[in-house]
This record gives sequence, structure tokens and C-alpha cells, in this order.
Amino acid sequence: MALRIVYSIGKGGVGKTTCAAALAVQSSRTWRTLVVSLDPAHNLGDVLDTRLSDSHKKQSENLWASEIDMEAAIARYLKESAERLKQMYHYLKVINIEGYLDALKLSPGIEEYATLQAMEELIREAEQRYEVLVFDTPPTGLTLRVLALPRISLLWGERLRLLRREILNKRGAIQSIQGERKFVVDGTEYSLSSDEKSDAVMKELNEYVSRMQALTSLQADTARTRVMPVMNADRLSLFETKRAFSSLKALGMPIGSVIVNKIGLKITDSRTVEQIEAELRCKVRTIPFIQDELFGSSAVEQFAQHIDFLEWIPGHNE
Ligand SMILES: Nc1ncnc2c1ncn2[C@@H]1O[C@H](COP(=O)(O)OP(=O)(O)OP(=O)(O)O)[C@@H](O)[C@H]1O
Ligand SMILES: [Mg+2]
Repeated sequence: MALRIVYSIGKGGVGKTTCAAALAVQSSRTWRTLVVSLDPAHNLGDVLDTRLSDSHKKQSENLWASEIDMEAAIARYLKESAERLKQMYHYLKVINIEGYLDALKLSPGIEEYATLQAMEELIREAEQRYEVLVFDTPPTGLTLRVLALPRISLLWGERLRLLRREILNKRGAIQSIQGERKFVVDGTEYSLSSDEKSDAVMKELNEYVSRMQALTSLQADTARTRVMPVMNADRLSLFETKRAFSSLKALGMPIGSVIVNKIGLKITDSRTVEQIEAELRCKVRTIPFIQDELFGSSAVEQFAQHIDFLEWIPGHNE
């Protein structure tokens, strides 16, 4: 069976991690399940009362958990980008790649791209080993920016391919007049290709575009992807969920019922379930506010009994 992916999404502190852990525990009764935290401020390990790292740690018979080391993911992303640039432009001594990367480290968007790459690697790996992958995500803003990246990058990639094609055509036109030029860097002779098939930049762009196409269609695949929005019954949480809904819909991502967590926590409850249902125009599942500390796998198992978390697993009972 193809890997199914669930994203636990919501505002800071609403219960994303607890719900992701509860879903994973329920899922693992039937399927080989991996739950992964992508939140740089991890608390999945705390919720499961275990120390987690980048590697997949076995929790029970069918359940593994992991926390992505974001610093390491960013460093890996930058290193791999540098390697690719060096390979593509090895003949251009004028580009100071190291200097460029130093600046890139601090650029906006790097955390998002590194998170996307970590997600992509995890999905690829999980496809070989698991049936269900649950992502515990960072608070809404960062998550939505990461989820929007494949589509944005696809547009960029397609546009860059057109530009590269123009460059290659011009190069071809010059070569047909001047003949092929060869030049030597560090004793090695190079010529510049005007053919799309052998041009390293075009190859890279083609590969990138197909990766982004695959991610974009996976995100919109109702048989494989589901968003599990988690919120509380307060006004700010509702506003944020509404905004998230419109972004997720624009990305074509299938959204499951909304979990309204911590019901009965009167200090924050300002909306009734009916109001939330009407405003979001979707099904709502509720979990009461629990007085006991939610900590460790047996607490998570108890928490999971409040609703049937399997409904967020694509294909289950559909
Ligand atoms: N139904 C509930 N009743 C009482 N406490 C709850 C409930 N759900 C979650 N909590 C508690 O609320 C706190 C936040 O929950 P959790 O860590 O799951 O949220 P989060 O959305 O992942 O937060 P963050 O954005 O910080 O990652 C935790 O202390 C958790 O035990
Ligand atoms: Mg969390």
C-alpha cells in the first residue's frame, strides 16, 4: 500500500504534537507508522517521554518516532547546494561560491527550503519502510510557507528553464558562427554545451522541476495526503485556522475534520463548536480539556480515545 501522509497543523500550543502522537499511536495498531517532528522547537519526545533524534526510534511494535535536527538540516541543505553549484559551474573561477553560501546562510527562506528538503527525504525513505507518516509541524506560519514552496518553486523552475533554453539557443547561434570554443581551467579543457541534453544547468533544472511536480501532486492527492487542523475554541485560533484553510485550499491540499482541542478550558473558549463549524464550513471533532498532565505513551493512548484519529488517514473507511 502506498505511503499515506498526515500533517498535524495549527497555531502554537493548541495541541498539534499531542494530536500527532495520538494519531500515530492509533495508526500503529494497524500500520507501520512513523511520526516525525519538523518543529525546530521540538516537543514530540517530551510528549512521548523519550529522547528523540534524527534517526527513527522504535516506540512500540509498529511505531517509530523522530525529531528532525533543523540546524543539521540547514547545514546539509547549504552543503548540498554548494556541491551542486560547484559541479555545474566548475569552469567559472570568478564565482566565489563560499562567499555566496555565507550570505545564503542568513537569507530569508533558507529554513523553509531546508525543511522542505528534510520532508522530501523523509517521504522518500518512509515510502520504503512505512505505511503511514505523521508530520508534527511547526506553528502555522512556517508550515504554510514550507507547504507552498513546491508550487512556488515549480513556477520558478519552469520560468528558469525557458530562460536557460534562450541562453542555449543564443550560445548555439554564436557557436554556429564562431565554432565551438574551448577553454582550459586548472589544466582541464572545457567546452560549453548548447545542447539541452548535455547542459548541466538544464539537467539540474529538469530534475528540480520534476521533484517539485512530484511534491505538488503528492500534496493534492486525496488518496495519500491529509491535513489534520488542530485548534482551540478561542477567537485567535479560529482566525488563524481560517487563514490556514484558505492557503491550504489554494494549494489543493485535502483537509480533514478540524480538531477543536481543550474544550471546556473556559478562559480561552469564546466560540461554540456550532459557531466554529459554521464559520469554517467543515466537520469538527472535539477533545475536552484534560486536567491530568499529558505525558508519556499511556497518557497519549488515553488522550487518543477521545476521538477516532484514524479518520485522518487517507483511505481509511472511505
Ligand atoms: N486536551 C488537552 N487538555 C489539556 N491539556 C492539553 C490538551 N491537549 C494538549 N494539552 C497540553 O497543551 C500543551 C501544548 O500541547 P502540544 O505540545 O501538543 O501543542 P503544540 O500545538 O504542539 O504546541 P507547540 O506549538 O508549542 O509545538 C501541552 O502541555 C499539552 O500537554
Ligand atoms: Mg508541538
